[in-house]
Amino acid sequence: MTLQLGDTAPDFSQDSTSGTINFHEWMGDQWAILFSHPKDFTPVCTTELGEVARLKPEFEKRNAKAIGLSVDPLDDHHAWKGDIEQTQGHALNFPLLADADRKVSQLYGMIHPNANDTLTVRSVFVIDPKKKVRLILTYPASAGRNFQEILRVLDSLQLTDNERVATPVNWKDGDDVIIAPSVSNEEANELFPQGWDEKTPYLRMTKLKK
Ligand code: BEZ
Repeated sequence: MTLQLGDTAPDFSQDSTSGTINFHEWMGDQWAILFSHPKDFTPVCTTELGEVARLKPEFEKRNAKAIGLSVDPLDDHHAWKGDIEQTQGHALNFPLLADADRKVSQLYGMIHPNANDTLTVRSVFVIDPKKKVRLILTYPASAGRNFQEILRVLDSLQLTDNERVATPVNWKDGDDVIIAPSVSNEEANELFPQGWDEKTPYLRMTKLKK
């Protein structure tokens, strides 16, 4: 069955470069960025894993942690690690699942047989501390992902979980936000005393208090 937003992220136990991962237990009360890459010793994947290592402090600021996956065996992951550090300047500092038996890739639908019948595509799942799937992205093997976008959506999810707002196109942390359509003007007066700019009755922009 295809995973959809709001579903509980399937739990699993699998080998990784950091030992056996029991996924839900490993997550604890943090957000997880679970992402697959097609293959070890390939150029795009090497750049992506270096970038995710570089961004570790950004994930930590958001109470989030990353975990990668490919269907390569653990020995390959370990042998490849040196290339990531040498070429990208950042050593692998998060677990890389060795999903040689395809247990996790099948659970999460990371193999798209009409694209490639054996390797994983570039999937991303953002999972919240309640273990609910909150974002699903799928990229082709030839296109490296933009992990700034994943941080941006994490910011949006964490904001809109706590405030009755939504975030507009190309929003980034600190920009004006949209008052949720479910909020009446009377409620908005209470919630957003700083006021708002009513572009239409359904598009009301406001600045968030710091
Ligand atoms: C890469 O990471 O460079 C890559 C992997 C699989 C297919 C194409 C490119």
